[in-house]
Amino acid sequence: MTAKYNLRVTPWKIRESDFSSMTSFEEKVKFLLKYAVLAPSSHNTQLWKFAIKDERIKVSADLTCALKVADPDERELFISVGCALTNLTIAAKRFGYVPMITYFPEGLDEDLVALIEFSKSEAERNELFESITRRRTNRSLYEDKPISREVLKKLQDCVEAGIRLNFISDTETRVMVAELVAKGDIIQYNNPAYRKELGYWVGQGVFGHKGIAAKIGKFFISHLNAGKSLGQKEKKLIQSAPVFAVLSSAKNDREIWVKIGEVYEKVALTATSLNIQQHPMNQGLTQVPEHREKLREILGIEEIPKLTFRLGYAKPTKHQVRGQLEEVLVPW
Ligand SMILES: Cc1cc2nc3c(=O)[nH]c(=O)nc-3n(C[C@H](O)[C@H](O)[C@H](O)COP(=O)(O)O)c2cc1C
Repeated sequence: MTAKYNLRVTPWKIRESDFSSMTSFEEKVKFLLKYAVLAPSSHNTQLWKFAIKDERIKVSADLTCALKVADPDERELFISVGCALTNLTIAAKRFGYVPMITYFPEGLDEDLVALIEFSKSEAERNELFESITRRRTNRSLYEDKPISREVLKKLQDCVEAGIRLNFISDTETRVMVAELVAKGDIIQYNNPAYRKELGYWVGQGVFGHKGIAAKIGKFFISHLNAGKSLGQKEKKLIQSAPVFAVLSSAKNDREIWVKIGEVYEKVALTATSLNIQQHPMNQGLTQVPEHREKLREILGIEEIPKLTFRLGYAKPTKHQVRGQLEEVLVPW
C-alpha cells in the first residue's frame, strides 16, 4: 500500500466556463476527469488511474492502494472505481460527449476496468451534474426527520438489473443493524493489522489531518484499540438516521462491484440534489464476512450485501481532501 498524493480541498472548486477555452481532446478529457476524482472511495484512497490516447480513456484500478486487511477481496476498491465512472459519465454528457464504455476488455492490462470512447452530442445538463461538487460523506448525527416515500422511490429508481437496494426505516431493524456494526467495530479493531492499515491512511492525511495531527492520529489508531468506543458512536449515528440502506447482489465479481459503485454514486448524487446527506458504513458490517451473512438474514434476502450507508437530513459538512489530477494520470 502506498499513498502518493498532494492532498488539497481545492479540486472541489471547478470553473465550468474553463471548458470552452480547451482546444485539444486531451485537455477536454482532463477537465472531465476533474469531476471523476471527486467520487467517494474507501478510506479516501482514490484508487483510480486514467490514461488518455486519441479519443479514448482507460480507467484502471490502482491495486497498489488496495486495503489488504479491510478489503481483502478488493470489492470496495472496484466499487470506488465504479463511483468515479458515474461522475465521469455525467460530466461527459454535460459537456456534450456520449461515452461508450467497454467494461473489463479482454487481453488488456489486468487492472483495467473500463475503456471509454467518446463521440460528440448535445450537451445534457441535469441536477446530478450539479451534485458532483456538492456531494460529500456526512458523518454527523442526522435530524429526527423521516425521508418521504416519493424521495425513496427516486433513489430506488437509480438501481440497475442484478442489484438490490433495501431501505431499513423501522426502529427495531435499525437497532439490530446498529448492534451488529458496534460488534463489528470491536472485531475489526481487535486485529492490529486492521488498525495499522487504517492508521497508515490517516497518517497520509486522506481524512484531512495535516502534519503533526496526521502523525498523532496514525499513532493513536495504530496503537490504541478504540473499537468499543467507536462502536458506541456508530450505533448512535445509525439510530439518528431515518434510513439505513443496503446495496446487495447475488453475483460477486469485479464487474458487479463496479456496477454497484456506479449505482451508489447515482443514489448519492440524487440524494444530494434533494438535500439528503449520505454516509457509507461498510466498517463493522460488510467488511466482516459473518456480518454480511447476518445482515442478509435480517433483510430476508438471497443477495449478499456489498455496500451499506445511512441517509438523512443534516447540515452539510466540509469537503474531504483529494490529490491533484496529474497524480492519477498515467501513460497509455
Ligand atoms: C466503498 C466505500 C466504502 C466506504 N466505507 C466507509 C465506512 O465504512 N465508514 C466511513 O465513515 N466512510 C466510508 N466511506 C466513505 C469514504 O471514507 C469517503 O468517500 C472518503 O473519505 C472521501 O470523502 P467524500 O465522500 O466526502 O468525498 C466509504 C466509501 C466507499 C466508496
